[in-house]
Amino acid sequence: MAYSEQVVDHYENPRNVGAFDANDDSVGTGMVGAPACGDVMRLQIRVNAQGVIEDARFKTYGCGSAIASSSLVTEWVRGRTLDEALAIKNSQIAEELALPPVKIHCSILAEDAIKAAVADFRARHPAPTEATLTSE
Ligand code: FES
Ligand code: FES
Repeated sequence: MAYSEQVVDHYENPRNVGAFDANDDSVGTGMVGAPACGDVMRLQIRVNAQGVIEDARFKTYGCGSAIASSSLVTEWVRGRTLDEALAIKNSQIAEELALPPVKIHCSILAEDAIKAAVADFRARHPAPTEATLTSE
């Protein structure tokens, strides 16, 4: 099966491969796996004090479409708020990369990775309560 040009581009020149320190307070880490094929994707976001994602990293052990999907979303989440990042849909990823139906689950992995990274960040940063806001 031929990969689309967009997949080959991200596969050959992956954006933002690597890792942040998962214990860093400004970092959220999402690790997800695809039961169908055993591929694993780790996505990390770095969030600033305004709640905007400043940077992202990924490591993916998987097929070209999974690598391209994760590379693409590291670019897409940058400059977004957490809620805006959660709005990224796998269908947008699949469309951008021209993924064939059999590779749709690779883009679902990337959407799930965003959700997992945001959930991890939020779990470690409970929203401030009114009491803490007014007690400065
Ligand atoms: Fe082979 Fe995903 S099924 S890498
Ligand atoms: Fe399973 Fe791509 S993530 S084939």
